[in-house]
Amino acid sequence: SPPAIIAPSILSADFATLGKACSDTIGQGADWLHVDIMDGHFVPNMTFGAPVVTKIRPHVQRPSSAYGNGTFDCHMMIAEPKKWVKEFKAAGCDLYCFHYEAAISSTAADSPSGTSSEKTSPKELIKFIHEQGMQAGIAIKPKTPVDVLWEILENPVEEERPDMVLVMTVEPGFGGQSFMASELPKVAALRKKYPELHIEVDGGLSGKTIDQAADAGANVIVAGSAVFGASDPGAVIKALREAVDS
Ligand code: DX5
Ligand code: ZN
Repeated sequence: SPPAIIAPSILSADFATLGKACSDTIGQGADWLHVDIMDGHFVPNMTFGAPVVTKIRPHVQRPSSAYGNGTFDCHMMIAEPKKWVKEFKAAGCDLYCFHYEAAISSTAADSPSGTSSEKTSPKELIKFIHEQGMQAGIAIKPKTPVDVLWEILENPVEEERPDMVLVMTVEPGFGGQSFMASELPKVAALRKKYPELHIEVDGGLSGKTIDQAADAGANVIVAGSAVFGASDPGAVIKALREAVDS
């Protein structure tokens, strides 16, 4: 697997002082910031949109390379992923991770070609994200089988292939839920086929669950409540990293 990337989810940060929470987390050793965008439609909760990302972006230094320190990893739990690509690029997003389930069910105005009957194909959306100058991620919910990803990952056209896959280990929508070990066979199947792929896990990651996730082959680790709820967040970040890299 590629080296560990620790991405605290700012969903569990204090939103009243979000800019400081972001810079503090990077100062404590985090590699990326995981930014959960929820629209109240794709998931039963709402967070914030591009205007807030624009305001917090200057609190964290931009990455000097793809996947570098300070990457804004925007997890788009939204029904119309195509619609917000340009806005999030302008706001300072570096990695735009959309949900497979949203892409295949969004139509009409959300379609790149604008025709009413056409669905947004994941490969088309990935290409569009790349054209805007961001890395592209594709996320799957617990009920979505990993098999839907093979065709997308095997695409010979490089700009249509994702840079990262996110395997959700909770139902998206809320922080602080219990880790679903049932999702780890997806991670293992992906890792077996793609030794160098960035595989992210999100939901319920902590000192108690990290070993299972790392053993399955995950290297990008999201943790919200485990980091922001800790008295020593830096120690949690360090322990997560060591579990993946050992
Ligand atoms: C859930 C979000 C997660 C969430 C994880 O929909 O995608 O990023 O913040 O929170 P914890 O780590 O507390 O499970
Ligand atoms: Zn997330």
